[in-house]
Amino acid sequence: MRKQIAAANWKMNLTLKEGEALLDAISAKPHTLLANQEAIFAVPFPYISMAQAKVGAKTNVFVAAQNCSDKASGAYTGEVSVTMLQSMCVKYVVIGHSERREYFNENNELLAQKVNICLENKTTPIFCCGEPLEIRESATQNEYVAKQLTESLFHLSEESIAHVVIAYEPIWAIGTGKTASSEQAQEMHAFIRSHIASKFGQTIADAISILYGGSVKSANAVEIFSQPDVDGGLVGGASLIADEFVAIINALKK
Ligand code: 13P
Repeated sequence: MRKQIAAANWKMNLTLKEGEALLDAISAKPHTLLANQEAIFAVPFPYISMAQAKVGAKTNVFVAAQNCSDKASGAYTGEVSVTMLQSMCVKYVVIGHSERREYFNENNELLAQKVNICLENKTTPIFCCGEPLEIRESATQNEYVAKQLTESLFHLSEESIAHVVIAYEPIWAIGTGKTASSEQAQEMHAFIRSHIASKFGQTIADAISILYGGSVKSANAVEIFSQPDVDGGLVGGASLIADEFVAIINALKK
């Protein structure tokens, strides 16, 4: 059974105290995670220890980083390596978020290196893909997303790809309040799965979790997550509100 995941992406938000208060508020609210379900908190680097201390003992709850260096170590001031993250028991790293692609010029080739270094260090990349509005309007989103997947993931072995989580985040739906319809999400997720299957086989494709991101909130999570190829969400704005994120966790497919 595929893993169902509710992942919070705090982005560059919250002070340390606010982050602590948010995790406390989420813990205090009733939510259930079945054996195949996980909640993940992708917090800013300086908050990783705090977040681990808060969620550490909870089953199926993990802390993630929002990025990592493509380099192993060395004179790269300001960067954070996967080895450092692994030494802190960080299990997941968000790779290739559209904001990093857009504002920090991360391209498919660089992201392939980041995926490699994560997997070499037994850290699971949550690999983000998704098209901008003009691509959606020209109805070439499948080709666009296929290229992102092909150029950053298709060099992997079958064993390695099985350790990747994919997040489809249409850029036009991020932080805009404009969600993809559940049909649009399902259509793209099914396409992503078929594209993975074309290279790695159906069995491997069927085992990979594909999360949807883009204005997920409590009001739409149940419908989006109920789609057969949607295995949960990567959530920005709504993950900063305890009631919202708890409802999103509870909206994971049973
Ligand atoms: P929003 O949920 O704020 O649209 O952000 C989505 C996202 O970018 C998660 O990584």
